[in-house]
Parts: sequence; C-alpha cells; structure tokens
Amino acid sequence: MNRRPRIGVLYSRVRVEEKWIFAALEQRGVDYERLHDGQIFFDLDDPQPWQRFDAVLARNISYTRGLYTLRVLNGWGIPTVNTARVAEICGDKLATSTALAMAGVPQPRTRVAFTPQAALQAMEEMGYPVVLKPVVGSWGRLLAKINDRDAAEAILEHRATLGSVQHSVFYIQEYIPKPDRDIRVLVIGDEPIAAIYRRSPHWITNTARGGRGEVCPLTDDLVDIVQRAVRAVGRGVLAVDILEHPERGYLVNEINHTMEFHTAQPTTGVDIAGRIVDYVVDIARAAMERRGERADASAPAAY
Ligand SMILES: Nc1ncnc2c1ncn2[C@@H]1O[C@H](COP(=O)(O)OP(=O)(O)O)[C@@H](O)[C@H]1O
Ligand SMILES: [Mg+2]
Repeated sequence: MNRRPRIGVLYSRVRVEEKWIFAALEQRGVDYERLHDGQIFFDLDDPQPWQRFDAVLARNISYTRGLYTLRVLNGWGIPTVNTARVAEICGDKLATSTALAMAGVPQPRTRVAFTPQAALQAMEEMGYPVVLKPVVGSWGRLLAKINDRDAAEAILEHRATLGSVQHSVFYIQEYIPKPDRDIRVLVIGDEPIAAIYRRSPHWITNTARGGRGEVCPLTDDLVDIVQRAVRAVGRGVLAVDILEHPERGYLVNEINHTMEFHTAQPTTGVDIAGRIVDYVVDIARAAMERRGERADASAPAAY
C-alpha cells in the first residue's frame, strides 16, 4: 500500500525557525506531528508509539534532551535528523575538536585540562590571549577572553568555586585575531547551501549577541574546509562556524547540530527551512523503502 512518509518534529519552543519549518511541511503537504520535548516520554519496552514516524527531526534547544531522545529513537532503528552520533559530537565542543583533530581539519589550537592548576599551565604555555569556553553551550554564553595571568587566575578560581561539574572541564583555545566577523555555513547532508558573515564590533559575533548577517560567497576553499569538517563529524543538518586567521586562513571553530538560521535565511534568500524539510522527507522515504513500503507517488510537490 502506498502512503505518505510520516515525520515527527521535536521542539522545545516555536522560534522563528520552527515556524518556517512547520510552514514548509504544510506547504509540501507532508504528514507530520509536532512533539513538544517537555511533554513526551519513552517506554523503553514499547517503541510502537514512535514507530509511526518514518523519520524524526529534532529541534530541541536543550542538548541533553535532544541527545537522549535521539539515542532512544536511533536505538529503536528510527531515523533522526540529526543522528544521535552527530549530536553527540557537535553538541560537545571537545568532542568536535577531537573529531576535527583526528581528521586533520584546521582549527584553533585547543587544550583541555581538568583542574585550575593544569588549566593555568596550559594557558601560560599557549600564550595570551586565550579563550575559555564551556564544552556544552551556545549563544556565546560564558565565553571568556583571558588577556593575562591575573585574569586567568581569577576566572579559573570563579569557575572552580561557582561553576557546575561541567565547568571543571577547562576547554582552552588560542584567541584567533579574526576580522570583525566569523562565517556561518549552513549544510544539508554534506552540501553547503548558504553562508553568512556575522559581523560585530565585539569579539563574540553570535547574532544572539548582536552580530549582523551579511551574505558570504561560497568559494571553493570555503566549501572544501566545510566538507572536510562534515566528513569528520558525520553528515546532517549543520551549521559550520569558521574563523578567518590572517595567516592560516580558515579554521573551523564549532559545528552546530540544531542551528538557528533566523538571520541566514532572510540574508541569503535561501529557503533553508524548505531544504531541511526536503532532506528529512528523503530520509523518511529511504526508510520506508528499506522496509519494503512504497512512498506515495501521488504525494504533493516534489514527493
Ligand atoms: N578562539 C577564538 N578566537 C576568536 N574568536 C572566537 C574564538 N572562539 C570563539 N570566538 C568568537 O565567539 C563566538 C562564539 O564562540 P563559539 O565557540 O561558537 O561558542 P557558542 O557555542 O556559544 O556559539 C564565535 O562565533 C566567534 O565570533
Ligand atoms: Mg557558535
């Protein structure tokens, strides 16, 4: 029997990105369900309620909620965008840096330590300024640019005393003297589909912190480093953030797996939400075919 693919969309809050995604699903006549991550639960002995989905798109804001949800779903063999493996690597800056290092992808020099004393030594050896980041986080929160030993000692003591367990992983990077911008490249599968500069007078250029978007051309060099980065972490719906070093060129700063694109979509005019939906539907159709089901050929639009 032919039927349309059925998609679940996990979300925490309907931000503008989710509005666009829901609109794209509706426009295409996709059979989908909205799943609020604060209201769902899983019975590990009973995958059946979840097996009605041919694929699930995760738009969770919380890394932990998203990751555990994806693990359960993938454990049951339900395809997700992104996969649990990709979320695991991209949601944790140290896991990302490790994957990039193993694959030889250029990135800022990075050190990790587990005590303030070892972190101070790592910073002193690296040379100031350095950037200290929580391994899990976003929107530029709790990033510290440390210009000298006095600042390092103060910040490390604060982290050790006031921080959570997570803050006892000291993730330290060299500060990259980039121009007043970084680059965000949106990727679907392994294909870069759009890029913006995020420009700001502040060294933290996140749009959540006031960075302004401008179109960035997808040059061959940019596409090349982004594809290498994607190969290192696994394909999916991703935003690869790049820093421009004055001598060393492009460096991969981080890779986001539930990215915001409220600035990239209007700035570039690329229908990012539509491309995400097309990608998820393709994955759902492939899953149906693997089970020997036929996706409905008379479904609307491209389906
Ligand atoms: N090592 C660095 N050197 C220079 N600028 C940096 C460095 N790391 C981060 N930044 C700036 O801070 C922003 C946020 O850093 P990022 O690591 O992406 O954290 P978040 O996950 O909070 O977005 C980046 O977009 C970039 O503008
Ligand atoms: Mg970032």
